[in-house]
Amino acid sequence: MRPSEDCGLCSLCTGRTKLVLPSGDPSSGIAFVGEAPGESEDLQGRPFVGRSGKILDKMMAEEGLDRSRVMITNTVKCRPPKNRDPTKEEMAACRRFLDSELSSCRLVIGLGKSACRDLLGYEGKMGDIVNKRTFITVEGKEIAFIPTYHPAACIYNKEAREGLRETIRTARGELEAGN
Ligand code: URA
Repeated sequence: MRPSEDCGLCSLCTGRTKLVLPSGDPSSGIAFVGEAPGESEDLQGRPFVGRSGKILDKMMAEEGLDRSRVMITNTVKCRPPKNRDPTKEEMAACRRFLDSELSSCRLVIGLGKSACRDLLGYEGKMGDIVNKRTFITVEGKEIAFIPTYHPAACIYNKEAREGLRETIRTARGELEAGN
């Protein structure tokens, strides 16, 4: 299930240029879920192609995991105005599409607080849950979930960089093991 071009389930559609649907390999069984499209993503219609995407690409490449080998998506498919966080209501409206993307996955990585708020209902500090594996239920199926830092948090924060690096290593290991 994908949003239609004229999707009006929430008000984000009024400010967007393009819908931003998942990229990468949906058959890999591994998904990285970010927050929301930013300006570059909105213009190009692809997730993580702006500043955060460059950071994520570089860290993945350094850990031997090309982004094309996994699925990359966001909690919402339209850019929030001025890059504000998506609201709970906007994430809830878009959740049916995210669930459909994730339903055939075996491992979901939540990049940052919006993804963890949406998929875990977590409102606390990221530092308390990063790389602590848990489960989420998607369309009635339990799927492994690893919370981690958003790439944007890695710019000035070494702990975040190390945390996200560890998550990427885990994802690569599971991809290669075919777990
Ligand atoms: N670009 C995305 O696609 N998602 C984010 O969370 C940030 C930038």
